[in-house]
This record gives sequence, structure tokens and C-alpha cells, in this order.
Amino acid sequence: EKAGYKHFMAKEIAEQPVVLGDALRHYLPNGQLNLPEGLDFTDLDRLTLVACGTAFYACSVAKYWFEQLAGLPCEIDVASEFRYREPPMPKRSFAIFVSQSGETADTLAALRYCHELVAKTVAVVNVPTSSIARECDIALPILAGVEVGVASTKAFTCQLLVLAAMALKAGVDRGHIAPADLDEHLTTLRALPGLMNTALGCSEQIEKLAERLAEAQDILFLGRGPMFPLALEGALKLKEISYIHAEGYASGELKHGPIALIDRSVPVIVLAPHDRLFDKTVSNMQEVMARHGEVLLISDGKGLAAASDGTWATLKMPSVAEPWAPILYAVPAQLLAYYTAVAKGTDVDQPRNLAKSVTVE
Ligand code: M6R
Repeated sequence: EKAGYKHFMAKEIAEQPVVLGDALRHYLPNGQLNLPEGLDFTDLDRLTLVACGTAFYACSVAKYWFEQLAGLPCEIDVASEFRYREPPMPKRSFAIFVSQSGETADTLAALRYCHELVAKTVAVVNVPTSSIARECDIALPILAGVEVGVASTKAFTCQLLVLAAMALKAGVDRGHIAPADLDEHLTTLRALPGLMNTALGCSEQIEKLAERLAEAQDILFLGRGPMFPLALEGALKLKEISYIHAEGYASGELKHGPIALIDRSVPVIVLAPHDRLFDKTVSNMQEVMARHGEVLLISDGKGLAAASDGTWATLKMPSVAEPWAPILYAVPAQLLAYYTAVAKGTDVDQPRNLAKSVTVE
């Protein structure tokens, strides 16, 4: 069932252009947004997004999208904190629960807490028959297909795609997006499977870089804006399957502490598309290089032309319109974790101490 791949994770990473295409056909048929009628963001004061692990990082990316594209205040929290905090919830709000399995105990408990408090509960799930899907007012399938590897990959990018469609719908409902801008965003989203195929072409290069990464004790991931949560996701992926200690930081936080960790032995992976914050991220990257940190810069052609000097290595991604880069850059982040784990000889699909679905608190 691994279709010739050595691990399910490799197969699931490679499947992303196809499953993303399926999700696009569902949510953007004929290039138009297609979301359930009841999902009307017009009169909301707030959104709350709750999840665990990788699904939480998808929510963290989406927060940038809902705020920027729809002007909608957006709270995010990990379910294990949210449920016991028992936060006040505005009635004019939606609570959105993101879960691959739809069975994560803390996320389900958070949903049950919200039922009577908010206007609508919304599930973004891979398993449409799951508890979370059944108990929410509206359930949106991510259409990733069965995900076997404990490390979530294709579910993450499909979660992002569904959340992107929701953020655009929110922007339209609230009159925050001009029609021409909407068209541009939809065109970019529809181009993603093709761009992902190009990104997957970096596999061999990444396999070579992973030989060095596999020797590291600690690895840092840096990103800004919506690339910050992707840095967190890259670090989570790497630590769960390669057992190397990894942390993600917002680039601008570096000088508030983590820069003390930098020396020749610490690879630093910088996720930096050539966007409006690029120069700021590059100056953080230069601070790392000045302390002999080994930088792997992942950027597009423009970014690499401007900032490759002094880096240990670079990876070239196709360029992609600003807010959507995390969907594309998930691919090299996943491949880096995968090949580093393979180089270390760990059990990639069944990493120690982890379960695919966490149904205990
Ligand atoms: O099934 P869920 O999406 O609710 O699972 C949430 C987390 O347990 C999950 O994303 C976990 O962090 C993965 N192992 C990450 O790769």
C-alpha cells in the first residue's frame, strides 16, 4: 500500500499535489468559492480556532489570513489549554475545531464546551464520520484521503487549503476583499498543486542536506508573519520523527533570547519567501551568520538572488503570492524532517512514544 515508497510519510508527502487538487475541486469549483450556506461570517465579532499539534499550527497560519483578508479578530489556542481555561466566548462568534482524526480527546472536549456559547461550531476534519465532525454544526472535509504516517503531512496542507477558502469567504462576506483581489487569490490557490510538484523536485537536494542535519543536536527554524507558524510546524515535524531537538521562532524574537544558542554546531533553517517582510528576516539571518550559525535559506528566485551570500545552503521554491506561501513551503519542511529521520535510521512512520490519534487527555 506504500505504492513503491519506503514509508507512508514519503508517499503522503508526494500525494499532496493530487489531494490538494481534490480539495480545490471541491471548494473552488470553476474557480469560484464553494462553502456551505450557513457559513456566513458577516455579523461576527470574533473567531476562535482550537486544535492540537500540527492542526494547531494550521490554525496559527489561518489566524494571519482571517485577520488580514477579512479584518476578523481571531483567537487561537491549543485544546488542552482552552478547555480548562473555560474562556468567555462572544455569542456572535464561530468556534472552529481542526483535527485530522476528528477524535482528539482535548479538541472534542473543547468543542463540547463551546456548543451553547457560540453562534456556530465548525469542524475541519479528515474523517467525516468522526466524533468532532458529527458534533459540530457544520463539518468541512479536508479530503486528504487516509493518512497513515504518525507525522501529519498531507492533512496539514489540506487543512490550510480549507482554512484559506474560509478566510476568503470571510473577506467577501465582510466586504473586506475587492473582487479583483479575490480573483487573484483564487488563481494562486488553484496554481498550488503545480507549484508543489516543483517544490517536490527538491527532494534529492534535501536528501543530501539531511546528512549534515542528522548530525546536529539542535536545529532552529525561523519565519515571520504566516511563515512563523510554519517554522513551528517544521520544528515539530523534525523532532517527532528524527528525535533531534528543534525549535521554531519568530525571526524577530531571535535577539530576545534564542540567539544565545547560535554557534557553528546549530543549523538554522530560514523560511523566507520574498515578501514585504523579507528584508527584516534577512537582517535576522545575518545576525545568525555573524555568530557562525549555519543557515539554510529557503526562498524564491528573487529572495535567493538578494540574500544567499554567506549561507551554508539554499533551496529554491517557486514564487507564490504573499499570504499563501506556508502551503507551499510546508513541502520542503516535511522533506527535511523526512530525510533527516531516514539518515538517522529512525522508525519514520511509527516514531517512539507517539500515536496517530490521541484519544486520551
Ligand atoms: O487528529 P488531530 O489532527 O486532532 O491530531 C492532532 C495532533 O495529535 C497531530 O497533529 C500530531 O501533532 C501529529 N503527530 C503531528 O505530526
